[in-house]
Amino acid sequence: MNVSQLVEPDRVHRRVYTDQEIFDREMTQIFERVWVYCGHETQVPQPGDYHAFQIGRQPMFMVRGKDHQIRVLHNRCPHRGVQLCGNQRGNVGSALVCSYHAWSFHLDGRLRSIPLQHGYDGTRVSAENPDCSVKPAARVDSYRGFVFASLSPTGPSLGEFLGEAKVAFDDMCDRSPLGEVEVVPICHRVIQQSNWKLFMENQLDALHPSVTHQSTGVAASRVERKIKDQTGAAPLYYHYLSAFASKFEQWDAVQTINFPRGHGILKAYMGLRPQDPDTRAHEDLLVKAYGAEKTEEYLSRGIHHVLVYPYLSVQSPLQQLRCLRPLGPGRTLSEIWHFRLKGAPEAIYRRSLWYYNLVNSPATMVNADDLENWTKAQWGLESEGGDWVSFHRNYGGDTENGGVIYSNNGTSEAVMRNQFRAWSQYMTDAQ
Ligand code: FES
Ligand SMILES: [Fe+2]
Repeated sequence: MNVSQLVEPDRVHRRVYTDQEIFDREMTQIFERVWVYCGHETQVPQPGDYHAFQIGRQPMFMVRGKDHQIRVLHNRCPHRGVQLCGNQRGNVGSALVCSYHAWSFHLDGRLRSIPLQHGYDGTRVSAENPDCSVKPAARVDSYRGFVFASLSPTGPSLGEFLGEAKVAFDDMCDRSPLGEVEVVPICHRVIQQSNWKLFMENQLDALHPSVTHQSTGVAASRVERKIKDQTGAAPLYYHYLSAFASKFEQWDAVQTINFPRGHGILKAYMGLRPQDPDTRAHEDLLVKAYGAEKTEEYLSRGIHHVLVYPYLSVQSPLQQLRCLRPLGPGRTLSEIWHFRLKGAPEAIYRRSLWYYNLVNSPATMVNADDLENWTKAQWGLESEGGDWVSFHRNYGGDTENGGVIYSNNGTSEAVMRNQFRAWSQYMTDAQ
């Protein structure tokens, strides 16, 4: 496969979205090598708690040990291959016991016991043979409570991989007076009928909202105005929707910042720092915890989304996180999570819940309109109506400084150009 024939600086071939061979290579070269988000440590608070997910094509789970360490293991019994955790989450008690023949394992994956052990006398089955224990992920690390694993024993550290995108987790956690967040243990799961890259491109695509989300934005702003006229003020969550009705020119004034490895930031546009009593109470708690100067630094970062390429979209000011688990060229599972700021007022959590339900959940009019576009994009790209996908908007007008690309215009397709720069590097990396 010659990647340079598929990706040019200003356009890509439609095959990158539709081809099974390319998808398989993405799994080997990207997803099964880079640091992949497993979950938040508060998803598994007690020893024996587990949470199952995929890294690339590999079914995995994270489990809290008796020593309180979190480990990430392959979801496969070393006996005859049966998955050890059949549910998405739960508690296995003091050991992992396979449902087929009851081989059991310590919570760190080591073989604990085999029924009728003497039947294996003289064979290679023994507690000392690593093949008889559950295979762990090559590397596990965490950043501010967010747990990641890599199936590659070598490569950049988690800190190096995240680079500037670390700010996603700092911006979320620093809004808690305790510096920590806690997962809300329900997660929407949506299977998108489209390639994972369409989602990643769309996250920082400021050209689409005033078209795709116009009907929602306009309807919400009418109601918002009416409530304002009648009562003097409309609840903040109307603004979550009405902001989508911003004009092209307004979106164009929002900058995107595009980092190495495909990560990126869409700068804030919603004005999410109102001066109502709830916000002021929250800010007072932060000042008490960190002092006025630090609080100001934390609250003025001006972020809307942070992308951790190739699978994460974090909306830190509203404690939202969406994670992709690609299933095939035209099928992508997305997990939609949100978080509580530890020690912050309940009203601040309600704000996050409103956003979760109104914008990110599968029930919203916002997400639904995006999903429809991506499905239709997949259909169009699978057709023979043309071979190339255009990323020409503001091509040649990007500002690059130390490997960081500034879009200058919010609607610039610098985002996609930068993502494909990273994609090509991953796909051709001979490691
Ligand atoms: S397959 Fe797990 S014990 Fe047999
Ligand atoms: Fe959208």
